[in-house]
Parts: sequence; C-alpha cells; structure tokens
Amino acid sequence: MVDIAFLLNGDAVRLSDTPPTRTLLDWLRENRGLTGTKEGCNEGDCGACTVMVTDADGTSRALNSCILFLPQLHGKAVRTVEGISGPDGTLHPVQQAMIDHHGSQCGFCTPGFVVSMAVAHKNGRSDHDDQLAGNLCRCTGYAPIIRAAHAAADEPVPEWMDDHPAVAEAQPLPFAPETADELAAWYEANPDATLIGGATDVGLWVTKALRDLGPVAFLNRCADLQKTELTDTEIRIGAGVTMSDVGTLMQDHHPAFAEMIRRYGSVQVRNAATIGGNIANGSPIGDGPPALIALNARLILRKSDSHREIALEDFFIEYGRQDRSPGEFVEAIVIPRQKDTLDVYKLSKRFDQDISAVCGAFNIVVEDDRVTSARIAFGGMAGTPKRARAVEQALIGESWCEDTIRAAMARMPEEFEPLSDMRASAEYRMISAQNMLLRCFYSRQGIATNVLEVSP
Ligand SMILES: Cc1cc2nc3c(=O)[nH]c(=O)nc-3n(C[C@H](O)[C@H](O)[C@H](O)COP(=O)(O)OP(=O)(O)OC[C@H]3O[C@@H](n4cnc5c(N)ncnc54)[C@H](O)[C@@H]3O)c2cc1C
Ligand code: FES
Ligand code: FES
Repeated sequence: MVDIAFLLNGDAVRLSDTPPTRTLLDWLRENRGLTGTKEGCNEGDCGACTVMVTDADGTSRALNSCILFLPQLHGKAVRTVEGISGPDGTLHPVQQAMIDHHGSQCGFCTPGFVVSMAVAHKNGRSDHDDQLAGNLCRCTGYAPIIRAAHAAADEPVPEWMDDHPAVAEAQPLPFAPETADELAAWYEANPDATLIGGATDVGLWVTKALRDLGPVAFLNRCADLQKTELTDTEIRIGAGVTMSDVGTLMQDHHPAFAEMIRRYGSVQVRNAATIGGNIANGSPIGDGPPALIALNARLILRKSDSHREIALEDFFIEYGRQDRSPGEFVEAIVIPRQKDTLDVYKLSKRFDQDISAVCGAFNIVVEDDRVTSARIAFGGMAGTPKRARAVEQALIGESWCEDTIRAAMARMPEEFEPLSDMRASAEYRMISAQNMLLRCFYSRQGIATNVLEVSP
C-alpha cells in the first residue's frame, strides 16, 4: 500500500492504501465515476482508454490507462476525456471538429480518439495517421476522424490543457527508486521482485493473466535509467528510455531503425514501453533486438555495485532464458557510433500496431562493390533474436551482386528452423527472411521495394 500524488483534470489527488498494480482505468471508472474513459480490449490494443499524461517538464503523452498502474502517475498530471473540454464546458477544438465532421457514430471509441487528437494537437503533430494508429473505430470509418484532426490543427491549444504537475508535490515512493544505486540496493535485497518499466508486458500479466505480482519496483522515476548520452564513440541509452524517445534519437543516426519503430505498437504503446523492457523480456519477436544486434550493441547489466558488459546477442541464451542472474537488471544499452548502413524490415499481418512475424536487420557495408562487413539479425526466426552468421559469412569479401545475395539466401536454413504459429508458417517465415536480404539489395540499387513507394 502506498501514497501516490498526481493531478487529475487539474485537481490534486492523493491516494493512500492503493495496491500498486491497480490500473488507472479501473480506478477512474470504479473509484472516481469517470466513465468517459472506456474499456475495450484491456490490453493496450484499441486506444478506447487513452488518457493524456504530462510529466514534470511539461511533456504530454497519450497513454493507454488500461495497462498503466497508478504509481506510474506519481508526480504527473492526468487528463481524461472529461478534462479535455474546459472547466466551463467549452469544447476543445478537436471535440468541435469531431462534431462538425461527423467523426462519431456509436461513440464507444470517441473518447479515446478525442484524447489522442488533443495530445497530438497540443504537441503540434500533423502526422494524424501515425498519431491515431493506436485508436480503433469499428463503425465511423477513419476518413471523417482524420478530416476532423486536420480541421482542428490550426486552432490554438486551450489554456486549460497546460498542466503543472509540480502542484502534485510528489515525495519519493518506497518502491520507485530514483537512482540506479537505490534500485541496485533494493533489487539485491528483493531479487524475486518484479521490475516494471512501461508495463506494456507486465500490465497484461495483471489484466489478462490475473497474476498477483508480489513485490514490485517501478523504474520510471529512476533518473539514471532515463538518460541518453552521445560521445564520439558510442550512443548510450538508459534502460528506461521509451521506444518513442529511442525512435526520435534514431532518426539522426539510423533512420531505418526509426522508421521500423514507427510501426512498433502504437503511439500510446511506444510512449510507455522501454528499451530495457523490450530486451529483458527475452521475447523472440521483440522488435528492438534485431536492429540493436545488427548494430553490434552491448548490454550493461548491473547487480549491486558491479557492472557487466556483454554483447547483446549473448544475452539471449534460448527461449525463455537470458544471461541475467537474480537481483541483476538492465541498466543501459550501448551502440557503437558508426556510419549508417542499416536496413530494417518488419513483416506483420497489419501495417500498424501489430507484432512481427519476422523482423530482419541488415547492417551491410559495401566498399568498391565488395562486401567488407555484414551483421544480420532476425526476430521471429528462432527461440531468441538471433544473428545469421552463415549468411554473413557468405557475403563478406564477395562482390555486391545478385548472385552473391542469392548464394547467401541459400545459407539461411543452416541458421534457422522457424516455427509455425498463428502469425506465420515456418515456410513463409523462411522465404520472407531470405527475401528481406534480396529486398535490402534491391533497395540499395535504388529499386522501390517499400509498399508505400510502389505504385501500379
Ligand atoms: C498493444 C501492444 C503492442 C505491442 N507491440 C509491440 C511491437 O510492435 N513490437 C515489440 O517489440 N513489442 C511490442 N509490444 C510488447 C512490449 O511493448 C515491449 O516488449 C516493451 O518494450 C516492453 O517494455 P516495458 O517497459 O513496457 O516492459 P515491462 O512490461 O515493464 O517489463 C517487461 C519485462 O522486462 C522486465 N524489465 C523491465 N525493465 C527491466 C530492466 N531495466 N532490467 C531488467 N528487467 C526489466 C520486467 O520485469 C518484465 O519481466 C506490444 C505490447 C502491447 C501491449
Ligand atoms: S482498453 Fe483497449 S487499449 Fe486500453
Ligand atoms: S464510433 Fe463506434 S467504434 Fe468508433
């Protein structure tokens, strides 16, 4: 039981005796009677439960309240759909635009859309398709909603949207360490506890698997884990950096990685999910590891006062088993600075908001028409994210031509025996992975290979 302080629609809230895994959505609807925020899927997929959360520095993000635990709000400001209109009932420009453009029919999805649109409007975003990809509507159709978003874009941001979370006067929470030293000491003493980064996995353990997590520690107040540092030789990303921020960072360094992250979950998921959680969960279909392995990234693990640095690919031992001992956590990921030669392809059934069937990352250096270096990694092709060493060997030193590529493609079955599951058959995965290498070659030859670039 804990004391949590935050602003709710402009008013200070203090909660004692709250179980740390109580979700914001349940609390809003059941304890506050704020039923405007809807429960659709209860697993981060539909956006009906979207709220706006503003950090102490004034940054506002859209988040899914169904997989957001109350302690993650400590020291922040929350706005639900009830707080998107003004205190005197004046409609927000996006609300008025939704009426004017007939953006709602049954209305179940509408509160979530309105909040996502209001956050995008506040942040000056005009990439409406991306900003709203995490909000599903079954009956209106998206065109009127996108028209409404466009129509509201030039209207000023209402002053009531300007939250000042410092009013919440947050004190440290006992289970939300504020430094890596504090986290290390706490985790050493509680090695069986569950660490919670963005809760985009852990949230579902509670809402879907109905698990009692026992002792937990929240990492989102741990300043050391939120840092990104750039030196002449490396890019160091703290484990608590969100996938949204990793995407922004990668735009300047490895744009293909940033472009893939645009299709990682949705805005709401990327705003919560951390790079540390994406690695530590050991998922064979996590989208971060293939690109990071191809970039030769290293993982910094910490236990008590000691640090350990390993190649990221060595962290993944086999399905469900990683090189991490009890009480040890992921502190940071380090990418060596290098000339950008990375291509990343995510293959999933839907373009937006879907888990990869196969994700391939190709870091291939070609000099004077000869391959001088190749690091290739895949997700979805084995029980772990995995390097394609035989394929790399078939490329290195060879001339950069289609014969070389096809010879390397033929080596793929030496490395991988993919599974068949509901996302893809083993055969489809193998052919797709092989063809991703061919796609990489064609796109470097200037041939349009992206479905968004190809026109009839
Ligand atoms: C709707 C939806 C869509 C998604 N789409 C994608 C997608 O497209 N691509 C993709 O890759 N993933 C996707 N995911 C999965 C998930 O978002 C990611 O795996 C995410 O990066 C997990 O990060 P998190 O911070 O939320 O982890 P959490 O849920 O907080 O934690 C996940 C695991 O990692 C552990 N952990 C967290 N941080 C640390 C640390 N620093 N050290 C040690 N252990 C730690 C936790 O204890 C837990 O075991 C999606 C999830 C949802 C709900
Ligand atoms: S209820 Fe569907 S994302 Fe939260
Ligand atoms: S208006 Fe009915 S689901 Fe969107």
